[in-house]
Amino acid sequence: MLPFFKKKKDVIGLDIGSNSIKLVQLAETKKGYRLVKAGIVQLPPEAIVDGSIIDSMTVTTAVKELFGQQNIKVKDAVSALAGNSVIIKKVSLSAMTEDELAESIQWEAEQYIPFPIADVNIDFQILGTDTEGRGQMDVMLVAVKKDMINDYTNVIKEAGLNPVVIDVDSFALENMYEANYSVVPAENISIVNIGAGVMSINILKGGVTAFTRAITMGGNLFTEEMQKLLNISFKDAETLKISGVVGDIHISAAQPVIEKVCGNISLEIKRSIDFYLGGMPGEYITKIYLSGGCSKVTGLSNIIQERTGLSVEMINPFNAIEYDQRSFDPKYIEEVSPLLAVAVGLAMRKLGDR
Ligand SMILES: Nc1ncnc2c1ncn2[C@@H]1O[C@H](COP(=O)(O)OP(=O)(O)OP(=O)(O)O)[C@@H](O)[C@H]1O
Ligand SMILES: [Mg+2]
Repeated sequence: MLPFFKKKKDVIGLDIGSNSIKLVQLAETKKGYRLVKAGIVQLPPEAIVDGSIIDSMTVTTAVKELFGQQNIKVKDAVSALAGNSVIIKKVSLSAMTEDELAESIQWEAEQYIPFPIADVNIDFQILGTDTEGRGQMDVMLVAVKKDMINDYTNVIKEAGLNPVVIDVDSFALENMYEANYSVVPAENISIVNIGAGVMSINILKGGVTAFTRAITMGGNLFTEEMQKLLNISFKDAETLKISGVVGDIHISAAQPVIEKVCGNISLEIKRSIDFYLGGMPGEYITKIYLSGGCSKVTGLSNIIQERTGLSVEMINPFNAIEYDQRSFDPKYIEEVSPLLAVAVGLAMRKLGDR
């Protein structure tokens, strides 16, 4: 059969986070995408720490539970790594063809990677040759630690699935954005994904990743500070943060620490943006989009807006994706959409994509 007529294989976007595992399945339609499945399952606190899978049994069981709960028959899963196990850098190299770069990439990358080159898998994308005729070209370099890839791949295999692609969360967000928003050439926008343990700050220029940085900061920080201040368990602090009350404690009692953590998060975002813009005179960021469960902390988006002076908006990964309101409650979708941003991007990966 000719490749054009081959039916596209369905894949599951599987975002394995430290707080929860998210699953999204999409179908391609004439107009774009339609949501087929969406689900989330919680993980206990110590199963994944700093992006490393500590308790693989628990994670495997949770993945199986999620596939069972959603009655998923598809086996091919696209997953992603995030945080400090991934290095994404824009570098300037002598102009050469893609094949030539593929030959020499190990050697070229060595100076940019802070780990032994033998411990990482390297991928790249040529972004374009400079127009000033210095014979240089911009290349996006991606390096991922092999042991991290192995850990995630093994968990997925143990769950009886087929890990077809291990992506990087920044690229999943880029794909999700491209499918849902109209990309303006040369416009700089930022997508900040704030999870439980990691915040990833991404800047896209004309819809393409131009900067990314992962910082160990997120929802856990709020919970831990509330736990200390109010002398309650992590679990109770988590409930208080999400539902606004636990026992007879009201969230207002934690207001000072919530504001402090919001301020620290905003400062890190501002630092990264200033760093990015510092190297590009005349450029500016038009908007910050927030995703991740922690972006739902009341007041956080306002504080980010205030501290950066930029307009801040919650991203909607279903902006241009249709779904059947008889199968999915729009209220539920609205509630979980910040958490599903990465999984939606992963679900858009077609097999055969690099
Ligand atoms: N309504 C809410 N209000 C405040 N915080 C919330 C709310 N819902 C979820 N969170 C917080 O969001 C975090 C989970 O977000 P998310 O699912 O994006 O993280 P994750 O992907 O599992 O973690 P990571 O990517 O950091 O490993 C948790 O800290 C959780 O307490
Ligand atoms: Mg996450």
